[in-house]
Amino acid sequence: MSIAILAIESSCDDTAAAVVLDGQVRSNIVSSQEVHRLYGGVVPELASRAHQEYILPVVQLALEKAGISTRDLSAVAFTRGPGLMGSLLVGLSFAKGLALSLQIPLIEVHHMQAHILAHFIEDPQPNFPFLCLTVSGGHTQIVVVRDYLDMELIGQTLDDAAGEAFDKTGKMLGLPYPAGPEIDRLAQKGQPCFAFPEPSVPGLDFSFSGLKTSIRNFLLKAETATPGFKTDRLPDICASVQHSIVGILLHKLEQAANQTGIREVAIAGGVSANSELRKQLIQLGKEKQWEVHIPKMAYSTDNAAMIGITAHYKFQQGLFAPQSVEPLARWHL
Ligand code: KG4
Ligand code: ZN
Repeated sequence: MSIAILAIESSCDDTAAAVVLDGQVRSNIVSSQEVHRLYGGVVPELASRAHQEYILPVVQLALEKAGISTRDLSAVAFTRGPGLMGSLLVGLSFAKGLALSLQIPLIEVHHMQAHILAHFIEDPQPNFPFLCLTVSGGHTQIVVVRDYLDMELIGQTLDDAAGEAFDKTGKMLGLPYPAGPEIDRLAQKGQPCFAFPEPSVPGLDFSFSGLKTSIRNFLLKAETATPGFKTDRLPDICASVQHSIVGILLHKLEQAANQTGIREVAIAGGVSANSELRKQLIQLGKEKQWEVHIPKMAYSTDNAAMIGITAHYKFQQGLFAPQSVEPLARWHL
């Protein structure tokens, strides 16, 4: 019997649905909410309203593209957390209603676990155990992945996430939200000529709040000394900020590889789309003789295919959620 899963992702500002048939992605639809660009960040109330508006057409399109009717589904999967409560509730309620009406099981999925398991959507797939640096708008984590559903968090940010560092710097520079992709694009025309101090954080944890403050102070001072500095040197500022963030991430990843002795290394999450991080990781991997895994762009940022693949492994183990399941805005890996 085949396993056909409809997966729904609505943890932040992307409404997404995918169909995964026997572990193969048959459709993967993402609708990104443009409304937040006006506000320089995600407005939770607007995000949940937009999910409410998009969820039905996004799910219908995912089913249509997969050529599957609801009658053929084996289970409905959804992101239980972590994320914005109002956003999670929309996906969860939709999934519950559909599963109930079709009399099929519900599968809850951890968003960060799904970012990691996105590596199993296509070949080549990592071998266990591997290390994963998971970097998104809300999380920065180093995880030892022992099996599909057996993961251990060995390092994480103590304050801001790497994506937040990109987005908040972008806001200081007057760039639209989310600023990560824009900084990446502008950095390609500049040089990392400004240095920011790397925070000294013990162990495998990260901190980005000090970097944010030093960038703010640097910009204030430079703009006062030379009016127009921020605009005139925008590509160099972006290249420098990106260089610093990537440096912080890769130093800790290298430390984690040394500490654990694991030589198979992956990156995941929205920030793993960053071209400098990808380039430097490939370079570092060559030097260190690591087996490096980088997800396809479409599976780096938020998507429902990763929720579907995670649900596929949970289905095989009979890990279903009750109809009483509630969303978790915070949920440890
Ligand atoms: O995983 P994701 O799509 O959503 C969350 O789970 O948060 O990650 C979104 C984050 C945002 O902070 C965004 O600015 C960042 O990923 N991002 C990037 C790039 N593309 C997305 N950051 C740097 N360079 C990029 N190319
Ligand atoms: Zn994400």
